[in-house]
Amino acid sequence: MQIKLRVFRYHPEKDPKPYYQTFELEVNPKDRVLDALEKVRGYQDGSLGYRRSCAHGVCGSDAMRINGRNRLACKVLIEDLGTTEITIEPILGLKVKKDLIVDMQPFFEHYRQVLPYFINEEALPEDGKERLQSQVDRERFDDTTKCILCAACTTSCPPFWGDRSFVGPAAIVNAHRFIFDSRDQGAAERLNILNEQVGVWHCRTSFNCTEACPRDIQVTKAIAEVKQALQTGKIE
Ligand code: SF4
Ligand code: FES
Repeated sequence: MQIKLRVFRYHPEKDPKPYYQTFELEVNPKDRVLDALEKVRGYQDGSLGYRRSCAHGVCGSDAMRINGRNRLACKVLIEDLGTTEITIEPILGLKVKKDLIVDMQPFFEHYRQVLPYFINEEALPEDGKERLQSQVDRERFDDTTKCILCAACTTSCPPFWGDRSFVGPAAIVNAHRFIFDSRDQGAAERLNILNEQVGVWHCRTSFNCTEACPRDIQVTKAIAEVKQALQTGKIE
């Protein structure tokens, strides 16, 4: 099938302002949007800038707006878009470095802000085994372990667009992963951070984040659970 790919272009050092360039190409309906971009870069314009690595929905590097929705280009089949005219734009709220490549630095700074790592200063059990937990305790944070840090949620979040100091949904998801881990001891510190001005109270429950997540993480639910922990003082 023949498609038209309308792609956002911007080289800040050369272009006075962003513009859109349309490429026409032949694709298989089962091709993914990433395959179409690869064809454009390989055969029509080698200067097209976008990130990709695994090409299988694992690394999180190719989040972009595809017909207005945040998606991973490697996970969207062209036939599923239901149109032969496809607009590709960078994710919103982060500075464009070139074409579809945005500056991820602020995103990862917010991620680091919430202490996204295991905290437990106690010695390991004497028998040298790992810190054990029940299956139920493990399931408590199972959903939020799936995050691949693609930024699709944070960059679909209106409060983040309005205030870039907001840590954003992805950081809260990664805080949730440790706050609700029965073996971790850093929950109080993380909750204090998320209770501050940059934290969870920016969330307006728009559900954009949940809709955008390519890992089907219940992002809004995770944020609500963190809010509840702050309100009740209990981690349940
Ligand atoms: S929660 Fe989902 S959308 Fe957000 S960064 Fe993680 S994988 Fe991406
Ligand atoms: S290229 Fe790795 S998630 Fe798409």
